[in-house]
Amino acid sequence: MNVLILGSGGREHAMAWKISQSSLLSNLYIAPGNAGTAHVGVNVDVAVDDFKAIRKLVLEKKIQLVVVGPEGPLVQGIADFFAADKDLKNVGLIGPDARAAQLEGSKDFAKQFMMKHGVPTAKYATFTKNTLKEGKAFLATLKPPFVLKADGLAAGKGVLIVNELKAAEEALATLLNGQFGTASEKVVIEEFLKGIEMSVFILTDGDSYKILPEAKDYKRIGEGDTGLNTGGMGAVSPVPFVTPEFLDKIETQVIIPTMKGLKAEGIKYRGFIFFGLIKVGNEPYVIEYNCRMGDPETEVVIPRIKSDFLNLLEGAATGTLSEQHVETDPRSAVTVMLVSKGYPESSDKGKEIKGLELVKDAVAFHAGTKFTREKVVSNGGRVIAVTAYGNDMDDALDKAYRNANVIEFSGKNLRKDIGFDLKKYLEKA
Ligand code: AMP
Ligand code: GLY
Repeated sequence: MNVLILGSGGREHAMAWKISQSSLLSNLYIAPGNAGTAHVGVNVDVAVDDFKAIRKLVLEKKIQLVVVGPEGPLVQGIADFFAADKDLKNVGLIGPDARAAQLEGSKDFAKQFMMKHGVPTAKYATFTKNTLKEGKAFLATLKPPFVLKADGLAAGKGVLIVNELKAAEEALATLLNGQFGTASEKVVIEEFLKGIEMSVFILTDGDSYKILPEAKDYKRIGEGDTGLNTGGMGAVSPVPFVTPEFLDKIETQVIIPTMKGLKAEGIKYRGFIFFGLIKVGNEPYVIEYNCRMGDPETEVVIPRIKSDFLNLLEGAATGTLSEQHVETDPRSAVTVMLVSKGYPESSDKGKEIKGLELVKDAVAFHAGTKFTREKVVSNGGRVIAVTAYGNDMDDALDKAYRNANVIEFSGKNLRKDIGFDLKKYLEKA
C-alpha cells in the first residue's frame, strides 16, 4: 500500500515510524514531514492545507491511504474535498469530515453534542457580543475559578481560567471583542471541574471502534504544572490511576454515548477521536474532544501498539475495523519533549542538534527539525520527543531522561518532572 501522512510533528514521526514497520507498506510519503520522518519515508514539500497540491501528489504517487495528522485540514474539510472528487473518492482517508471535525473546531458544537447525547461534561452556556450582559449574569451564578473558552480553534490559547469574577467579566468582553478573531465570536463559559486529567483515544470506522492505550500529557511549560500552556512537554502511558474498572466506565459513559450520538446525527466518522477527560471523584467527564491524535500523546500511545498499525488504519478506512484486534505492549512508555529557548512565547530556530546518534534504548521522535546542509537543525518550539519503554513508569523515565541528556542544542529546555503527580499511584499499586 502507498501511504501519505500529512503533518510535520512528533505525532507524524511516530506514525511514520510505526507504519514503516508494516509488511503491508509499499511506499510512505510525509508532507511536509521533518528530518526524522525522512529516515522512515519520503518527505514531500507540500503544506497540509494545500488541498490542490495534495490531490496532485496522491494521484502522482498512487496513494491508497492518507492519514491526516493535525486538526486544521480536517476542520477545513479535507475529507469532504476527497469525497467530492471523482479521482480521490476511493482513496482511504483517516479523519472525519468538516461537520464531525466541529467536535474539535467548535466548543459550542461539542458541548451541544455532549448535552444532547448524554456524555458527561461540565455545565455550560454560550454567549455572543449580543448576549454579553447575559454572559456576565451567568458568570455571577458560578463559583470561581471561571472557565472561558473561545468557540473556535485558537492554537491552544483559547481557554482562560480566571479566579476573580471582575476579571472573568473583562475576559469575556475581550474575547467577544475579537481577541481571537472569528474564533472568539462565541464564548463558552463552563463550570470548573476539579480532578485529574488524562486522555483516551479511539480509532473508528464509523461502526466499530478500537480503544488505544490511554495517556496523560504535561501541558504547562514549568515544573509542577506551572507557567504557560504549551502543545505538551511530555506524556506517559499507561496512566497509573486508570484501572480496568475506570476504563470500563469511560467506555460505557463516554465512548459508547459518543458513538451512538454520531450515528444519531448521521455522521460517518472515520478516524481518531481523542477524549480529553477529567476524573472527578471516580467519574469521567469530557473536557474536550479532538478529531485527531494528540501530540505528544501519540509518541507514547503508538509505541505501545504491538499490532500492525497500517492494518488497523486500513480497517478504519474500509469499514472492516471489527475484524481487527489491537494488541498492546504491557510495558510503560514515556516521552520527554526537548524544546527551544523561548518556547512557548517564541522559539529559536536553526540550532544544530547533536548527539542523536548516541540515543540508546530510546527513540528520538523529531517534532520541529529539518535538514540544512546535511545537518539536523531545530525548526520550531518543540524539537525532539524522546520516548523510552520501561517495566514501569519510573524505569521508562530513567531511560528517557538519560537519552534526553545526550541530545544537545543551544537553548535546549525540558521538564524534569514528567510523571511527578503519578508516582503516588505507583507506590499504592
Ligand atoms: P481544552 O482546550 O478545552 O482542553 O482546555 C484546556 C485546559 O483547560 C484543559 O486541559 C484543562 O486543564 C483546563 N480546563 C478546561 N475546561 C475545564 C473545566 N471545565 N474545568 C477545569 N479545567 C478545565
Ligand atoms: N497534547 C494535547 C493535544 O494534542 O491537543
